[in-house]
Amino acid sequence: MIRIHRQPKTLITGIGSIDHLGEEARKLGGTKALIITDKGVCGAGMLPLMERVLKEAGLEVGTFDHSVPEPPMDSVQEIVTLAEKEGYDIVVGFGGGSPIDVAKAVAVLVNSGATIYDYVGVDKVPRKGLPIIAVPTTAGTGSECTAIAIFANEKLNVKQGVVSPFLMPNIALIDPNLTVSCPPGVTAASGMDALIHNIEAYISVNATMHTDSLALEGIRLISKSIRTAVYDGGNMWARENMAIGSMMGGIAFGNAGVGAVHALSYPIGGMFHIAHGIANTMVLPWAMELNMLACQKWFKEIGEAMGENMDGLSDGEGARKTLAALRQLAADLDVPQYLSDVDIPESAIPGLVEGAMTQGRLWNNNPRKFTREDMERVYRNMAVRP
Ligand SMILES: NC(=O)c1ccc[n+]([C@@H]2O[C@H](COP(=O)([O-])OP(=O)(O)OC[C@H]3O[C@@H](n4cnc5c(N)ncnc54)[C@H](O)[C@@H]3O)[C@@H](O)[C@H]2O)c1
Ligand SMILES: [Fe+2]
Repeated sequence: MIRIHRQPKTLITGIGSIDHLGEEARKLGGTKALIITDKGVCGAGMLPLMERVLKEAGLEVGTFDHSVPEPPMDSVQEIVTLAEKEGYDIVVGFGGGSPIDVAKAVAVLVNSGATIYDYVGVDKVPRKGLPIIAVPTTAGTGSECTAIAIFANEKLNVKQGVVSPFLMPNIALIDPNLTVSCPPGVTAASGMDALIHNIEAYISVNATMHTDSLALEGIRLISKSIRTAVYDGGNMWARENMAIGSMMGGIAFGNAGVGAVHALSYPIGGMFHIAHGIANTMVLPWAMELNMLACQKWFKEIGEAMGENMDGLSDGEGARKTLAALRQLAADLDVPQYLSDVDIPESAIPGLVEGAMTQGRLWNNNPRKFTREDMERVYRNMAVRP
């Protein structure tokens, strides 16, 4: 089968790699950079470092420092207007997936006359925008390596994606040092998102030999280091494994797609403002309980990559062991597992099902063809902590 694989042209990785950012920005022709970031990242004290490396390379630098986490669509236009007025010629997304996604959208909206709503969906962006540099400070979304940006549509109460090759960052710079200040809750939620990207990419019906190799290695790196990263945040072995595993997840799912877990978690995030990684972790075992029946062999291999001993087990036994390992991981990281843990009432389930039904782009990647009843079953199974 013929497949087109996309990823950033330049990947810069490693502890201390941030020092190379300025010269690489200049190679892209940037002279006036707009850094887009948020209060949490500024509060961690990292903004002066970013401004310095760009200024030392001779760029003029401006900062928009109050981008909104889990960004609403309506939050983007203000930054586009600022970028147009000030004439920035390169955009730097600095933070977790949230400011990186905003930066990608701003880059293609500047001087386009369009709004973000015009670009929702696949291939709606008509042309290339400003060069984009993505510098993640969480090990999670892999957004630095994807041609996707996700926003909360507050009119429809659902998360929606802008998907276009023109959103692909020109440079992804992954410096694990920048993730050390992540508090345990953010490390756990974003780290689980990264693991889920690799898992969903591996079982996707659109997986390729290229995405499979990245996804399996991403699962290995994250599974062996996520507990240490959460409970001993200064451990650089764990932070580096997480950062690279997350990057691999981004490239894997950016090309193979994600499926049921994301499709069922987006309405939870959209309607109840639960962080993306938490909503995904809640849904993971319940969605996979149904999903793995369509892909037991692959699900067993995921468990093997997680370090589970599968000797002598059938595919079905192995898949069930993987599911148990994922439940244990979520419990160890103390992430909520039931809708009732985050005060979502059972009466919300019909609305959640409606939201999940709209995620056709994701269902197309999923191994099991979920019916409306299947979706409802997942939400009912996870409704109330016994
Ligand atoms: N574009 C994609 O391919 C893609 C993929 C998956 C998820 N997403 C989207 O990404 C968003 C979630 O991103 P995320 O999980 O990285 O979290 P985030 O960017 O929303 O950040 C979560 C919180 O952590 C803080 N934070 C981030 N880095 C920090 C650091 N180093 N030190 C201290 N605090 C820090 C932020 O300020 C914020 O308050 C969601 O909107 C989700 O839908 C996008
Ligand atoms: Fe995700």
